[in-house]
Amino acid sequence: MALWEGRFKKEIDKQTNDFNSSISFDKRMYKEDITGSIAHATMLGKCNIISEKESETIVNELKKILDDLETGKLEFDLEAEDVHMFIESELTKRIGDTGKRLHTARSRNDQVALDLRLYMKKEVKKIKELLKELIGVLVTQAEDNYETIMPGYTHLQRAQPITLAHYFMAYTEMFKRDIERLKNAEDRMNENPLGSCALAGTTYDIDRYLTSELLGFNGPTLNSLDGVSDRDYVIEFASALSIIMMHLSRISEEFIMWGSYEFKFLELDDAFATGSSIMPQKKNPDITELIRGKNGRVYGDLMSLLVTMKSLPLAYNKDMQEDKEAIFDALDNVKMCLETFIPMLETTTFIKENMLNAAKRGFINATDCADYLVKKGLPFRTAYKITGTIVAYCIDNDKTLDTLLLEEYQKFSQLFAEDIYPATSLQKAVNDRTAIGGPAPETVKKHVQVIKDYLRSLD
Ligand code: ARG
Repeated sequence: MALWEGRFKKEIDKQTNDFNSSISFDKRMYKEDITGSIAHATMLGKCNIISEKESETIVNELKKILDDLETGKLEFDLEAEDVHMFIESELTKRIGDTGKRLHTARSRNDQVALDLRLYMKKEVKKIKELLKELIGVLVTQAEDNYETIMPGYTHLQRAQPITLAHYFMAYTEMFKRDIERLKNAEDRMNENPLGSCALAGTTYDIDRYLTSELLGFNGPTLNSLDGVSDRDYVIEFASALSIIMMHLSRISEEFIMWGSYEFKFLELDDAFATGSSIMPQKKNPDITELIRGKNGRVYGDLMSLLVTMKSLPLAYNKDMQEDKEAIFDALDNVKMCLETFIPMLETTTFIKENMLNAAKRGFINATDCADYLVKKGLPFRTAYKITGTIVAYCIDNDKTLDTLLLEEYQKFSQLFAEDIYPATSLQKAVNDRTAIGGPAPETVKKHVQVIKDYLRSLD
């Protein structure tokens, strides 16, 4: 019989019960539910709303239930409406009337709001850890590649020379911002909704500071309507997760391209690639493609959360039960993506020779040729135009800026001298870009230090 059997004359229709039930997916919050109930029962005892003895009996039995669930001695009853009702009825089954006192000055509305916050707080920490690990691997790869010259691209056209280290360090900035975004969301979700009860608080003399302290929150939420109906923190989290996925999709896309024979800048480790069932020569970048694909799914989760919450009148509405599957799906997928991407990145071989060869073709030192003329006194626009004409000449005559003879250079400007060759060397083009943020090895080394300090500051 349902908890509300007093008010009802009939049992719930079987299919309606299945439709209504959330236990199949909210059972993963069993630990948070029990932790929340332990704090609540402790507070009820301390405030003399139930006796100390009853409080103790409830707390001890809840601990046993937790243990039994963990060891598999107790199984979830999938007929239950949700994890909250399941645990409460299990408690009552075990300790009778005392168990029935647990729900004093509480509602499932503040209970679910609490459980979800506790669960999110735990998960934010895991994602931050994974991001930290990822940044660590990016830094290690950067440290091996300060001198590895490659073309930098805009519009996917070879643009200017950079180094592989400079490239990896760009991603450390993105993932660092992701960590900061999570920290930010974490701060905001650190308020305790327990005590908001159904929507209008309670007439019992509860101590919300005590439960906040017991559960590790900064303090109680300050409006009971908001306390039970706020899911901003879930949306913020899903949004931060979507941005992480977007960053992962960008590096994934590059790895897919770089692994192709057209680029051949890298070779994936066999453990992180797949073959084809028909084409024996194939080595497919399935991981990075799946990460790219899962972006759609995680953004979809964010959208469904936003749309679920849109226009909901205060306070709790059952629509909000839909929040869990969306955020759990986003979380599970982001974790899987990070957990797979990190070791893949760690084991990838970068083919430096091909990167250098690509950098040598494509006139990526043309800006340096223009800068050379500027340093000899020409205004930049004039130098830019002359260099453009030189590039066109080279294309027509199958030459590069390195193989163009000095006499040929001088046909375009008398300012050219022998020193044009070292001035346009790729190494020099990289080494001279020392301004903060640039690819010069000494500059990138300083950035690596900053990121390493940042990682240490997170401990
Ligand atoms: N299973 C519900 C949810 O996830 C718990 C809260 C139910 N509250 C209620 N008044 N029906 O949202």
